[in-house]
Amino acid sequence: MKIILLGANGRTGREVLTRALDAGDTVTALVRAENSLTDVTDKELNIRVGNVCDPNFLKQALPGHDVVISTLGPRMPTKGACTIYSESATAIVEAMKECGVNRLLVTSTALLFPSDKLFDRILGFIARHNAHNAGLMEESICGSNLDWTIARMGFLNDKSSTAFRLAVGTLPDGGGSISRAAVANFLLTEAKQSSYANKVVGLCQ
Ligand SMILES: NC(=O)c1ccc[n+]([C@@H]2O[C@H](COP(=O)([O-])OP(=O)(O)OC[C@H]3O[C@@H](n4cnc5c(N)ncnc54)[C@H](OP(=O)(O)O)[C@@H]3O)[C@@H](O)[C@H]2O)c1
Repeated sequence: MKIILLGANGRTGREVLTRALDAGDTVTALVRAENSLTDVTDKELNIRVGNVCDPNFLKQALPGHDVVISTLGPRMPTKGACTIYSESATAIVEAMKECGVNRLLVTSTALLFPSDKLFDRILGFIARHNAHNAGLMEESICGSNLDWTIARMGFLNDKSSTAFRLAVGTLPDGGGSISRAAVANFLLTEAKQSSYANKVVGLCQ
């Protein structure tokens, strides 16, 4: 596969990146800072520096690729930082339509699954900017004619297990956290197999 990866310098992004390169895929990593990913070298890796919320930057990078994977997300749960979800989604949808690249996989948050549990409601309030903006991102993507898959997760961790459980439209029974390695495994498997096109899936371990 020829993959465009947004969020490649993030913790899940790096899992996707190294696994894709190990599998022999070609990756164009879009990053915002010049000094990102300087520790990763591979002949199948191209790094482009620019603004991932600028459709023109994306339109220059997308042609010739099979799939766009975005693991973008706010580094901090502040109102300003969380707009990365919605602003990148608007640009991604516009650029993909214009460039004729149709397959899109993004990470989102399990905060968007309805829940009556007190803990989830408190968390939802604390992370309200995150949930609000992830919701806007999902609206843009679901309203496009792209071939998309949205993966929603609860807390992420850096354990090494790549196993995951999945449910469509909800978190699997019991919910819980999941490793970034497992999320990367899902994204790359799904990019190849397209088993969950136009579906929102919940992932946990
Ligand atoms: N952390 C959790 O517990 C959790 C829970 C549920 C869902 N998620 C979602 O899962 C995904 C992966 O999470 P993660 O914790 O592995 O991510 P992360 O390490 O926080 O990485 C986020 C990535 O987004 C990029 N980014 C943020 N704001 C940006 C901006 N304005 N312009 C360009 N790039 C920007 C960062 O770029 P830089 O590297 O340049 O900073 C980084 O590459 C995200 O979508 C996240 O929201 C996370």
